[in-house]
Amino acid sequence: MLTIAVLVSGGGTNLQAIIDAISDGTIRNARIGLVVSNNHGAFALERAKKAGIETAVLSPKEFPSRDAFHHALLARVQESGADLVVLAGFLCTIPEEMVQAYENRILNIHPSLIPSFCGKGYYGLKVHEAALARGVRISGATVHFVDSGTDTGPILLQKAVEVAPDDTPKTLQRRIMEQAEWKILPQAIDLIAGGKVRVENRKVIIQ
Ligand code: GRF
Repeated sequence: MLTIAVLVSGGGTNLQAIIDAISDGTIRNARIGLVVSNNHGAFALERAKKAGIETAVLSPKEFPSRDAFHHALLARVQESGADLVVLAGFLCTIPEEMVQAYENRILNIHPSLIPSFCGKGYYGLKVHEAALARGVRISGATVHFVDSGTDTGPILLQKAVEVAPDDTPKTLQRRIMEQAEWKILPQAIDLIAGGKVRVENRKVIIQ
């Protein structure tokens, strides 16, 4: 059984999609051992508690230095026995020591088709604002493994979503969540839990 630590900062709809997929059998052979938030007010924490999942809040502000925060974050995740770390809207950068300790075992969901609209500064609504400003007809979401860069790790799954002529950043964000994110993130976890994923030469191979 794969144990997952989910790292969150906000609403937690992707966390909810994982919780629901575990309970309806879309994700097999996995459990969430811990949900970690960097802020006390994240609604994702309520979702975790309601599902009976252990939670922890580690706020960078409550540590003497960034290094101390990073250290505590990795220690807490390791203590939970996590085999896989899932970043579901986690707005802090992932410490290099965690990237190394969990090489090809940290998943991120990004709300565009990488390599478009990704990298530094592309988070939240900014991604969708940029897509609309460029006038793309198709956007989508990407699940990838996390390496030392920003949105540069090996790509596991992508799903395209059409942009509507009257889309606002918010309507596009919502459609991408519903049609892509909430589907491919659970699907990716199921593939990993089923032992079907490996990474070779920075490329993902799905059996
Ligand atoms: C999602 O759009 C995800 O792609 C991005 O952050 C957002 C998190 O939303 N990385 P939620 O907290 O899962 O509702």
